[in-house]
Amino acid sequence: MKFFIDTADVKEIREAASYGLLDGVTTNPTLIARTGKPFHTVIKEICEVVDGPISAEVTSIDFEGMKREAGELAEIHENIVVKIPLIMEGLKCVRWCFENNIDTNVTLCFSPTQALLAAKAGATYISPFVGRLDDISHEGMDLVAQIIEIYNAYDYETEVLVASVRHPLHVVEAARMGADVCTMPFSVINQLVKHPLTDLGLAKFMEDWKKVPK
Ligand code: E4P
Repeated sequence: MKFFIDTADVKEIREAASYGLLDGVTTNPTLIARTGKPFHTVIKEICEVVDGPISAEVTSIDFEGMKREAGELAEIHENIVVKIPLIMEGLKCVRWCFENNIDTNVTLCFSPTQALLAAKAGATYISPFVGRLDDISHEGMDLVAQIIEIYNAYDYETEVLVASVRHPLHVVEAARMGADVCTMPFSVINQLVKHPLTDLGLAKFMEDWKKVPK
């Protein structure tokens, strides 16, 4: 499973990249706004840090506007993946991107029918938002299972990118289901390595090591 980081904070991205485990980055308008910097400046900085797919989201909600933004974003760097919301105008833009060799990440997916449409339109990635479904008492990971089942049945090439991840259990379930990608906040990436028995065991080894004659 590929690991993407879900942030626009270049400091976090640099730190996560230093672990040697990072395959890509996802951003959205909210994450970009938190940086306080212009959109294209942030995206260019991220492209310099990570050599992998970098999702940058359009903010138009009509086909013509999305198409113009998609073209501009794709010009920034060859690793740019244009992130497009799952509305009908967005699907038209996904199709246009597919025909123009521009990679897409179809975002704000909350149902299997939406995911089916995205695959038919030629999306590179589909982003089911599991945490936001959990927030309204729906099992977010059930949606991921349904999408994987549908995509496998028809050999769709669209990759399943589990998004809106809130904790390590989402990551475990995504991996068990065979999701292609999991995008995680910096905090979740760091939680993955933690185990109290590892810390206790290491402390004991370090303590006992002091008793070994040098
Ligand atoms: C990913 O592409 C999304 O931007 C992100 O995972 C949304 O996460 P949130 O629901 O925690 O805002």
